[in-house]
Amino acid sequence: MAREETLTLAARTIAKASRVVAFTGAGISVESGIAPFRGRGGLWEKYDPAEYAHINTFRSNPEKAWILLKEMLTTVSAAEPNAAHHALAELEHLGKLRCIITQNIDSMHQRAGSSNVIEFHGSFRQFVCLDCARSFETDELMFDLVPLRCTCGGLLKPDVVFFGEPIPTDTLFRAESAASTCDAMLVIGTSAIVQPAASLPFIARKAGARVIEVNPEPTLFTELISDCRLVGKAGEILQRMVAEVRRIVQQEGLEDSYMLKSPGERSHADRDTGH
Ligand code: OAD
Repeated sequence: MAREETLTLAARTIAKASRVVAFTGAGISVESGIAPFRGRGGLWEKYDPAEYAHINTFRSNPEKAWILLKEMLTTVSAAEPNAAHHALAELEHLGKLRCIITQNIDSMHQRAGSSNVIEFHGSFRQFVCLDCARSFETDELMFDLVPLRCTCGGLLKPDVVFFGEPIPTDTLFRAESAASTCDAMLVIGTSAIVQPAASLPFIARKAGARVIEVNPEPTLFTELISDCRLVGKAGEILQRMVAEVRRIVQQEGLEDSYMLKSPGERSHADRDTGH
């Protein structure tokens, strides 16, 4: 199927659905100048995550962990939300997006105007003392001298999930609840590799949701659960898709035949549509 048709089909599915959830990963922020983790130019090409991004390293050798943290903080603080973040904010304003579950720690969704965002891996907005649990807003901290320390002397850790740390229970609960009760999930810019985040689209699919994937590259989701894949960059694709959703919502009167097929009716051709 041609890409234009796939895009229209995806837009109709979103317009017709009543509980849409977006699940986003590093790929959605690439057009904001924030490098992804995997693939060419990814952060893990330069830094071994098992070393630099592990909680044990942060505790035992914080200077090393801070090399990566400083690079990430510098990049994120210079970045602006892109067309993809703005398109999702508009989808929420159209009443067509219940929430975003993001693996990203860059706050781009909130800065673009989305209000219901579950930050699965935390965010850079706060730092927390590992000893006394006091928290600090990032804006009130100076980064000249790292590792940062609390007034009590304890190490200040950004409020993000490091390798070796569990997802906070309330975050996991909210994300799994959203995934298991949605009727369509937009899966954008994620490699489907890191657990438990990567299980969320599977939870949605099992609960009967349509899974629409936006990614220039195929993933495990494409192979196993995606009802449709929009191939390309998130900014361009989401901008066009949300414009189409807006048009449909304003026009009203949807026809069932435009919906993506049910699981039993799906064929492989429906799933990996290509260009
Ligand atoms: P990855 O870096 O693993 O994957 C990025 C995905 O985005 C890939 O599938 C790319 O093909 C896709 N991509 C690249 N450019 C894109 C674009 N312009 N538009 C759309 N998609 C694009 O990032 P995540 O899957 O988010 O965890 O990584 C998951 C977790 O691994 C991160 O949250 C982080 C990392 O280790 C922690 O730090 C705990």
